[in-house]
Amino acid sequence: MKSIKKICCIGAGYVGGPTMAVIAKKCPDIEVEVVDINAARINAWNDNNLDNLPIFEPGLSEIVKDVRKKNLIFSSNVQDSISNADMIFISVNTPIKKKGMGAGQTSDLRWVESCARQICQSAKGHTIVVEKSTLPVKTAQTIKDILDSSKINNSNENRTFSVLSNPEFLAEGTAINDLLNPDRVLIGGDDLKAMNALKEIYIKWVPASKIIFTNLWSSELSKLSANALLAQRISSINSLSAICEVTGADIGDVANAVGMDSRIGSKFLKAGPGFGGSCFKKDILNLVYLSRYYGLDEVADFWQETVAINTWQQTRIYKEIVSKLFGNLADKKIAILGFAFKENTNDTRESPAIAICRKLLNEGSFLSIHDCKVNEETIDKDLSSDNLFDKSMWAYKEDVYSAFEGAHAVVLMTEWSIYKSLNWQNIVSVVKQPFWVFDTRCIVKPNEIRELGINLWQLGNGENQ
Ligand code: NAD
Ligand code: UGA
Repeated sequence: MKSIKKICCIGAGYVGGPTMAVIAKKCPDIEVEVVDINAARINAWNDNNLDNLPIFEPGLSEIVKDVRKKNLIFSSNVQDSISNADMIFISVNTPIKKKGMGAGQTSDLRWVESCARQICQSAKGHTIVVEKSTLPVKTAQTIKDILDSSKINNSNENRTFSVLSNPEFLAEGTAINDLLNPDRVLIGGDDLKAMNALKEIYIKWVPASKIIFTNLWSSELSKLSANALLAQRISSINSLSAICEVTGADIGDVANAVGMDSRIGSKFLKAGPGFGGSCFKKDILNLVYLSRYYGLDEVADFWQETVAINTWQQTRIYKEIVSKLFGNLADKKIAILGFAFKENTNDTRESPAIAICRKLLNEGSFLSIHDCKVNEETIDKDLSSDNLFDKSMWAYKEDVYSAFEGAHAVVLMTEWSIYKSLNWQNIVSVVKQPFWVFDTRCIVKPNEIRELGINLWQLGNGENQ
């Protein structure tokens, strides 16, 4: 088995960047080049000031500092990098299709297909092509078909390809730890030599018992299944949070009690404003689409409900806010704490904050928004995407306390740690009365708030008035 000397990763995003940084760190003998058509993103990865990396991820800048320009290169030379590589990771975006057949349901594979065509154009000798992106089941066949077609116009064609599936299970905010200590590394394929070549890379830091082999379709489906099961858990706990509110139970206590059952487990039982992030919704919708395609309508309906509860959770939070503020938000200022879809990331894709802020803006309120890592430009893009809400309707606040000045309410959207220890005594003196705290992440201490005469609505708290 020839060992891998040069890797090309197509896509310098939330997966490509951190994943390749860790491979470069753990495999100093391999030259890793991460390429992207987005030149601004590549420039940011090459910025001397590590605070300007395009992705915020704890521990990432330290690794990049260590290996960048040694055996980790970020560049825009996609074709050159492909032609030099023994192994190519496809790590591009696979969002839900916006138009045409399967719109709103299945992934838009244009970027994956364009990678396969770029590889066709420039690869040399034998190349192992690895699906790192999350893809609908059977996409490996599409990639193989495109790669095989390169032989049609060239009878002297002596290039060969092996296609593997190696889905990524990292979560944003904990990506580096997840990559360094994965629960498992999944390699799907039908070419044992190629599968072993990829295993040789991971074995440098992952125990062999955690590196598992399957066929291509089990690997592709396992990735969609893992995300669907995780998202379903969140919808389950969120549906229970609503029952807590009407019965006097407390969702934290319920989660703790059920999570102590070792068959259920305590992780991923935190109620909140619904799952965000670029993948859960898209991956469940892919599963729904696949099920319908094969005539499995009951299966499709089952998974579809996970998304329906998620949307409902956001809508019901918004309705609580309007109703507690006397049914009228016009001329009211609402502070929004947190815009990222979870803590420790600057990613806002599918963030519940976007849906809730847009509903509040639609009611005529003015928002003053704070986040620890998301910048004003990103928030602007998210709120103004359909030209309904412009920048006169909200303000970006660098300082968390200034977001409260003159506000009638605050909505806690992301669980950033600084929001857990706010000085409510200071806050109460700068806000309008009656003032409401809407805590969608269950992070404030109810007694501390209520003792100051502040009204509190906390998700899943049966003591809400
Ligand atoms: P991303 O949008 O952050 O990055 C994708 C990058 O690919 C972009 O910078 C884009 O410019 C680039 N690109 C697209 N087509 C290209 C081409 N033909 N040539 C060169 N560059 C190209 O996406 P991401 O969050 O990194 O996700 C990538 C994939 O990984 C998706 O399929 C996603 O479902 C999956 N995934 C994501 C996560 C996550 O936490 N974000 C975790 C596991 C899996
Ligand atoms: C998720 C999975 O956890 C990863 O394994 C997977 O690789 C990744 O999707 C992907 O394929 O993109 P990520 O979306 O980055 O990772 O973050 P999570 O920690 O899973 O959180 C997703 C959403 O669920 C967030 O909005 C978070 O706030 C919410 N969540 C999570 C809860 O509301 N409660 C919980 O208990 C956990």
